Amino acid sequence: MMGRSELKISMSNPKDFFASARDAVNVELEKIVVGVRADIPGEVGEAMAYSLSAPGKRFRPALLLATHNELGGPGGAELIAAAVEIVHTYSLVHDDLPCMDNDELRRGRPTTHMRFGTAVATEAAYRMVPLAARILAKGADRLGLDSARLSQLARELFSSAGASGMVGGQVLDLEAEGKTISVDELVNIHRMKTGALIAVSAVLGAISAGADDGAIEDMRQFGRELGLAFQIVDDILDVTATSVELGKTAGKDVEQQKATFTTILRHDEARAEADACISRALGHLESVGPGTGLLNDIAAFIVNRRS
Ligand code: IPE
Ligand code: IPE
Ligand code: MG
Ligand code: MG
Ligand code: MG
Repeated sequence: MMGRSELKISMSNPKDFFASARDAVNVELEKIVVGVRADIPGEVGEAMAYSLSAPGKRFRPALLLATHNELGGPGGAELIAAAVEIVHTYSLVHDDLPCMDNDELRRGRPTTHMRFGTAVATEAAYRMVPLAARILAKGADRLGLDSARLSQLARELFSSAGASGMVGGQVLDLEAEGKTISVDELVNIHRMKTGALIAVSAVLGAISAGADDGAIEDMRQFGRELGLAFQIVDDILDVTATSVELGKTAGKDVEQQKATFTTILRHDEARAEADACISRALGHLESVGPGTGLLNDIAAFIVNRRS
């Protein structure tokens, strides 16, 4: 049966769209959190609930839902969007651990390991991976997708999260600490650690909409460029925004000798790289047709954001 969340996604303007996409995914995440608390008693379940309920921007879900809508999907992809957000949340909990970026603040709150300890936070994040798989399957069911489409969704999501994507990029990011690397090497790290999960958000939006292979590939290229721009801007914001704006500790990259777009390039050069990604991204939209402009707005959001 075709399902829809209780909240209708607003298409009238980008601000309304972001707010309603975020609210619709938060509604699903809150229900998921109730299930997590029931299934996983004790500190690990609480740590999962704590991380999943924290106020993130929900950018990846918004991108997925926008792509789904623009490619003519029927709506009702919020659970699939929640599955991506769960994988993203797991990546943040591990990213903040003492053995990785050693951060104390995330989404305006103490990081999960500061609140629950390293062992509990590590396990809580790992347990979000099978949770995401279950939610993805439930989301495919809700849309009435067949098993071939579900397996396509799962292969895409979990390969983008794995060694050739997010996890692999995180390893390279840590290895690059304190080293001088080339722009090309940094582009590769950023495409893997952040770009892969953002690209797959656009891909999942297209698959869940029933798009053909050509449109899915256009969305992959679109999302891939958005993903690189997103991490370049994250690097810029680390040195230009405040901890209050970011909800995470500003200035951490220099402190930790991270290789970033602002440590190996000047600010104006980093900005220009982000802008170039956005224009390449928009180029990939041309064959998709005029649409409502929502995907253009999503692209503009990335470079204009302050958090
Ligand atoms: C932060 O992601 C980590 C990166 C990949 C840059 P977001 O900027 O989307 O963080 P939240 O989800 O809004 O907290
Ligand atoms: C994080 O990159 C990428 C992933 C979480 C996969 P960063 O380390 O720059 O993210 P923030 O700045 O801590 O959010
Ligand atoms: Mg990191
Ligand atoms: Mg970090
Ligand atoms: Mg960062």
